[in-house]
Amino acid sequence: MFRFLRILACTLLSVAGMAQAADKYSIIPEPGRTELKPQATRTLKLLSDKAEASLGKDAYRLAVTPGGVHLASGGREGRLYGQATLRQLQDQLAAQPEGIPCGVIEDKPRFGWRSMMMDTARHFVPVEDVKKFIDVMSFYKFNKLHFHLTDDQGWRLPVPGYPKLETVASKRKETFGNKTPHEGMYTKEQLKELVKYAAARNIEIIPEIDVPGHNQALCTAYPEFLCFPNPKLEVRTNAGISYTLVCPGNPDVWKFYNAVFNELKDIFPSQYVHLGGDEAPEDNWMKCPKCADFREKAGIRDENKKAAAQKEMVEFFTRCAKMLKSRGKTAVFWYEPMGKYPDGVIVTTWRGGHTPKTVANTTGDKVDVICAPNGKCYFDYPQLPGDWPSGQPDTGWMPVNKLENVYSLEPGHGLSAKEMERVRGVDCCLWAERLPNIERVFYQAYPRALALVETAWSPKEVKNLDRFKDKLEFHKKFMQEKWGISLERPEKK
Ligand code: ACM
Ligand code: ZN
Repeated sequence: MFRFLRILACTLLSVAGMAQAADKYSIIPEPGRTELKPQATRTLKLLSDKAEASLGKDAYRLAVTPGGVHLASGGREGRLYGQATLRQLQDQLAAQPEGIPCGVIEDKPRFGWRSMMMDTARHFVPVEDVKKFIDVMSFYKFNKLHFHLTDDQGWRLPVPGYPKLETVASKRKETFGNKTPHEGMYTKEQLKELVKYAAARNIEIIPEIDVPGHNQALCTAYPEFLCFPNPKLEVRTNAGISYTLVCPGNPDVWKFYNAVFNELKDIFPSQYVHLGGDEAPEDNWMKCPKCADFREKAGIRDENKKAAAQKEMVEFFTRCAKMLKSRGKTAVFWYEPMGKYPDGVIVTTWRGGHTPKTVANTTGDKVDVICAPNGKCYFDYPQLPGDWPSGQPDTGWMPVNKLENVYSLEPGHGLSAKEMERVRGVDCCLWAERLPNIERVFYQAYPRALALVETAWSPKEVKNLDRFKDKLEFHKKFMQEKWGISLERPEKK
């Protein structure tokens, strides 16, 4: 009898123990195919790591066996992704030492473009903080950092021959009336080091230099670049749209961009340069005699001033794209419905859920599309109602963008398979007017970035919101332990 009770107690204990062992993997983004086996393993030692070209360059296979793990990958990217998955499994095992299931994972990304946009112009981000951001991106299989370096509120790229970019354009006297100066400028060496650091983690840095608008900082340093020079201009201290477009009729503007693009080529090996092109009201272009001259020389003859100015915009974009092309680069623009984009460029669709419209509008232009509809992909929007950093005013217009809403994104929803060929992937945007430090950037980015990367990586069929939320509980704890990243509010309201 006594022996029987002891056996029963042992059985119950071991059942309780098994209940704590994992019965599935908690991998974000969800792999394309997972086959679980009845055995469990308590070791994830890498037993073999072989190349298997037939898998495809960004694909991998992980076989988890009782004795350890076998990795096969089709190329450098696939190998890095396989290693990233293995690291997540190892963390899961550390949290669930009773064991995790044996099985086979076969995986590759749905989209080749999985980026996050970091806005260093509104709030400068020190290099060490950018590196930390890259570490986390890489861990979750993002592959591009869209690095927004210039805007009305600050300029962060040094360009030889233009010292006032640093002495004037990189500084502003305050932010939203807080009476606290803000400044920051990268050095060329820092940027090159950052590029190398990112590349080792399979993150390509795509610089953004916003043209022809969003240039109040630049035109404070060099007022002569404006259609109507205003020496009283100041680097902008709040959010909004400026009328400070550079003047295409001024040859010095082109000399400047020549120098900028040379510098970008020198620093960033990426094939892509984002040129912005968003929110550029042409009011001054319509009144400017130098612009009239520029249009005349470009053969733009339109009675309607607005239509003429829009054609001037197309001409401006076309020249910039050509200058980049001669340097082996492809231009990317925020999509604005202003006319034909130059063949071969990429547009980022950002105005509320307009991917199908953007694809339709650019059909025939040989233009690919990146999907960043603001309602789902803008992470400067609050995750919860009223969730603003302390001391920052409510914009009064930003919608709440909840995790579930982000997860529901289907890039290019409603497009045919043929049209989907032009959709390269997704970009999540962290506009930083209200993100004053890296803690706030992380807080705004996560966990929503995980929802988006699962959308960008995983086949539609394996996405499941409830399952994603289960996995998140584990990853929240893990992000706190591994990187000290709190997904809770960093400050009290
Ligand atoms: C943008 O949000 N102005 C692209
Ligand atoms: Zn002008």
